[in-house]
Amino acid sequence: MSSVLNCTGHELRIQDVVRSDGAQLFDAAGKRYIDLESGVWCTSLGHGDARVNGAIKRQIDSIAHVGFCYSNDVVEDAARSVLSVSGLTGGKCVFLSSGSEAIELARRISRHLTKKHRSMTLHDSYLGSYSSFTDRSRNWFVFDWKVCTTCRHNDGCRKDCEQLQNIPDDISEFIFEPGSSSGFVRFPPASMIRNLVEIVRSNGAKVIANEVTTGIGRTGRWFGHDHYEIEPDLIAIGKGIGNGYPVSVTAMTAHTTAQLADKPFKYMQSHQNDPLGAAVAREVIRTIVGNDLIKRAELVGATLLAELQELVDGDTIVDVRGRGFMIAVELRDRATGDHIYDELLDSGYIVCNRGSLFRIDPPLTIDEADLRSFTRSLSEIVRRH
Ligand SMILES: Cc1ncc(COP(=O)(O)O)c(C=O)c1O
Repeated sequence: MSSVLNCTGHELRIQDVVRSDGAQLFDAAGKRYIDLESGVWCTSLGHGDARVNGAIKRQIDSIAHVGFCYSNDVVEDAARSVLSVSGLTGGKCVFLSSGSEAIELARRISRHLTKKHRSMTLHDSYLGSYSSFTDRSRNWFVFDWKVCTTCRHNDGCRKDCEQLQNIPDDISEFIFEPGSSSGFVRFPPASMIRNLVEIVRSNGAKVIANEVTTGIGRTGRWFGHDHYEIEPDLIAIGKGIGNGYPVSVTAMTAHTTAQLADKPFKYMQSHQNDPLGAAVAREVIRTIVGNDLIKRAELVGATLLAELQELVDGDTIVDVRGRGFMIAVELRDRATGDHIYDELLDSGYIVCNRGSLFRIDPPLTIDEADLRSFTRSLSEIVRRH
């Protein structure tokens, strides 16, 4: 692999993954790993899902990609499916390739409509890889909610709170990431989010839900913002909607769609509204709906969370938090985290290592027996530590 530049900031730990099946990966020596990270939180239905693979094969044999002036029914059909599960009746969708692109397009649409140029986000949002997102020094207002975590009004956030008084009135859009928190899985209080939404909206801003990680059932609802009783103007969807195939969506409300009809907007990319990506998205949604997988993520996720919370000993494991199938296990320190990650990998379990914390984001289809054996292995590793 020496010709491949690895600039992800993550060490390559298994060089020869040769086969996959559901939550399982196999290396060339035949060792089996349970992938509790779902790739980069993408394989919502598990690796090599036969229904998605079948849809890819059928679509690729018919039409995979066309120019801007041509299309195929599957794109319209997939858009209807996305709008239906996101509750955006009468809205519209654009299919793209990555989560970063979906957020970028939502942001551009918002700026086009509001004619304002400042984005707002929470201090611990990741957003994506575009430089406009990573450089927060210009045209951003970053709302720091650390202090709110210890607020005595915690889930009864008051609009007259000092913290909320310095939100500028020239915000174009509030990009809200409902719980991924740069990968650290923190869930901002619902009342605080509702207040932020109300304040920016009263000044004409749009609300964009960044559902790249939290969408498509990850938190036990279709979307992470469903836990907040807010209605975003635009939703950026990625990762899980492609089950590992690079497709993403910017979806918008009927109102935003009508505004765009009045103020035409131009944006183009080579793989915009590709039939192949749309076929994948449609199949993923059909499979989730057909197998009631959102409910499964909620229920099986709650059981897993409760079992992992029993391992909190205040010494090695200091906290376990999560929603649905998005769970974080917080360790005493980085050295402990690295050690436990190594031991889990040796035992055949892949988790997302963030140093002093690891994440568990299994496919919505994961076998419950695999989750039980993981919890047992983790418990033994912690006991030996
Ligand atoms: C919350 C969040 N937003 C956006 C992105 C960017 O998505 P992508 O890597 O598909 O461009 C990520 C990627 O990890 C993410 O976790």
